[in-house]
Amino acid sequence: MIAVLNTEDIEEGSSKGFEANSIYMFAVKKDNQIYLYWNRCPHLGTPLEWEEDRFLDADGALIQCATHGALFQISDGRCLAGPCKGKSLKPVPFIIDNGMVMVENHILNLST
Ligand code: FES
Repeated sequence: MIAVLNTEDIEEGSSKGFEANSIYMFAVKKDNQIYLYWNRCPHLGTPLEWEEDRFLDADGALIQCATHGALFQISDGRCLAGPCKGKSLKPVPFIIDNGMVMVENHILNLST
């Protein structure tokens, strides 16, 4: 497994974009839980953030796509409003080990 993010590097109620092996992802920390998604809008496949590390709407309750404003639930990535309503962000499977967010090598197209 590969460590992609230190859980201390993301503040409660905020989001953070990052890349590993040229695969773009972002994390949200809410109620001390980490959520991890591919950084691709299910509408047109564009990156979601407004500016660096800004993936959430104004009150931090939902993920919002910067291109056409689609809104997604943080907990499961489901699109609640916008052109991709009913579709979902793709979650990245992970575990947390010793404060590090870890993903399997094959998810990053890395051999073991
Ligand atoms: S590309 Fe995200 S809502 Fe259109």
